[in-house]
Amino acid sequence: MSAQRRPDIVVGIDVGQTCSGVAYSIGPDWSEPRTLNRWPSNVGIEKADKVATRVGYTKDTNKQKNWGFESVFADEGVNVREQFKLTLDADYEDDRGFTCHDARQWYLDYLRCLHGEIEKFFDASIPRWRNMHVEYSFSTPTTWKNPAMIASIEELVKSAGFASTSQQSVRMALTEAEAAAIEASTTQYRTNEIFLICDAGGGTTDVNLLKVKSTSNKIELEPLDHVEGVPIGSTLIDFRMAEHIMKRLHLIQDHLDGDIYCLADEMLTGRFQIVKHSFPNPVVDQFWLDVKGLAGSHTFPEAGIKDSRISISRTTLTEIFDQQIGQIFSLIDERLLALQADSPAEQVSYIILSGGLGSSPYLYDQIKKRYQENVGFRSANTSQIQIMKVLEPQLAVVRGLVRERTQRLGTPVAAGPEVFETRRCRNSYGAIVRELYNDSKHRGLPIVQDMHDGRQWVDHVVDWFIKRGQVIKVSEGVRQPYGATISGDQVEQPRRAQIVMSSLPVERLPVLSTDSGCKHVVTVDYKLTNNDMKLKNRQMWRLKKKYWRAEFFFVTIIGPADFRFQIEGKNGVLSSSHESLKVEFVDSSDEPLSATVSPRAWSAQDPFNSPGQTNGRAVRYA
Ligand SMILES: Nc1ncnc2c1ncn2[C@@H]1O[C@H](COP(=O)(O)OP(=O)(O)OP(=O)(O)O)[C@@H](O)[C@H]1O
Ligand SMILES: [Mg+2]
Repeated sequence: MSAQRRPDIVVGIDVGQTCSGVAYSIGPDWSEPRTLNRWPSNVGIEKADKVATRVGYTKDTNKQKNWGFESVFADEGVNVREQFKLTLDADYEDDRGFTCHDARQWYLDYLRCLHGEIEKFFDASIPRWRNMHVEYSFSTPTTWKNPAMIASIEELVKSAGFASTSQQSVRMALTEAEAAAIEASTTQYRTNEIFLICDAGGGTTDVNLLKVKSTSNKIELEPLDHVEGVPIGSTLIDFRMAEHIMKRLHLIQDHLDGDIYCLADEMLTGRFQIVKHSFPNPVVDQFWLDVKGLAGSHTFPEAGIKDSRISISRTTLTEIFDQQIGQIFSLIDERLLALQADSPAEQVSYIILSGGLGSSPYLYDQIKKRYQENVGFRSANTSQIQIMKVLEPQLAVVRGLVRERTQRLGTPVAAGPEVFETRRCRNSYGAIVRELYNDSKHRGLPIVQDMHDGRQWVDHVVDWFIKRGQVIKVSEGVRQPYGATISGDQVEQPRRAQIVMSSLPVERLPVLSTDSGCKHVVTVDYKLTNNDMKLKNRQMWRLKKKYWRAEFFFVTIIGPADFRFQIEGKNGVLSSSHESLKVEFVDSSDEPLSATVSPRAWSAQDPFNSPGQTNGRAVRYA
């Protein structure tokens, strides 16, 4: 959640599947974001724009030994853990068999070291920084769709030290695609131009369609679609190549010293990375990699090995690239076709590539062929499209993170504009309510006869108050009216709203919270105030009790990666702020790690009213 105090230093942190970037800016002038580029390594200091996302644990004791560039596979006493970002999400299936719990432990240990390194850097370069308020903005991968999961990652980040003093705070900020878009828009584009940013990194590829609202000094972007991401990236190219090499090494297994999997993995560092990064150049029929674990000079024609070097044909590498690029095409096609269906008159001026894979010359050529030269794809919105690259593609996300925050912070006397005045949610969200039976909507569902009013109700109905892709004004959020009839003895009772989410297409949203495709994500406990209720003079039905009629708005404020809730009376006056509510995110993958991360409670699904209450209906107004 955003910090209350104005930050003096904003630090952007983008933890990637392969490497992580850190950028910062110092107020009140908010200089251009600068990046940390010196990192500890086994040879002293390594100069690099990003630090490897790796942690090493001693094999015999499983104690953390090192991190970043210090963790190397050649160190036989150490288990190196890497590429765990995607595995942090319990819904992601890790082919290697690692669990989300493993990944969270590695992430925590990695972040502790990263935090220590940032502190060291500030100690050496910014006088008195420990008296300043430092705000750490973390990018969120687009593949993390569940706000409950993001909330538990936020807890993990905090326990790694990023909120260890009152001078430090953490903010789960923009998705990687949004942050990269901000950086892209600083250089090249004009007001009203539409672009599709495609951030293709080591493990994820995200796309986002945006319209430039303003570029003069301040950046304002309007999302035309929700962001979408898939687990596709440059490390998948490595993975497929490792599979290919393993198959061939298998043929000469008896001559090799070492495990085939480890040898293949080792063969992908060094020269292969150079080949991959410059592909499709130079134009050669094959390239050669040294075979690891094969001492001396040996030739095995059956495995394509000559003088202990294995040949990889251009066709093989092309096929592997094409598999990944095919999936990136699908992602882009889908967004462009959705735009065509929604707004056929809008013209997309650019596809902008960022991220490591986004800097691949082969990806650039293929994207150009498909979308600019229309080989295999055509849409009404792309007749003038051009393909561009972000400057410094691997740093776009972390720089964009810092820019977004510092622009908004503005000067001490005047806040700056939001980059995104509107947002489009990646999921649909709803509250569980009891609804009056309506034959066209509820036919076939279980009916509850109310003992007091004799009317027929349906429980566990989801009132979808945010639909995926819907435009939401950031400053206003979503205000959904609810009502309840409350007897006198229950006026003071805490009430509970259960919020569920669904990633299904809007036309297929479930009716009941118990239907598949519906996931419980947040529980909000609140009390209604005098501002929300009116005493009714009539006596309550046959019970002859006084009763109150509550009418209020349940307000959801959409942050970059978080939600805040509040209750407003019918008169629009705030009754309960977010801080006064008890908000519990429900991440089913939460398990305690060996640190101070508290598991979140799961509670049974109750309707949108007091648990166990019979006459406190929450009714959605038509
Ligand atoms: N020219 C290139 N062609 C193909 N791959 C490249 C190129 N340059 C860098 N890469 C790859 O990009 C990856 C690093 O890119 P980046 O820093 O964007 O990834 P990341 O942030 O770690 O991943 P992600 O954002 O998916 O979590 C590495 O796998 C690297 O090999
Ligand atoms: Mg990245």
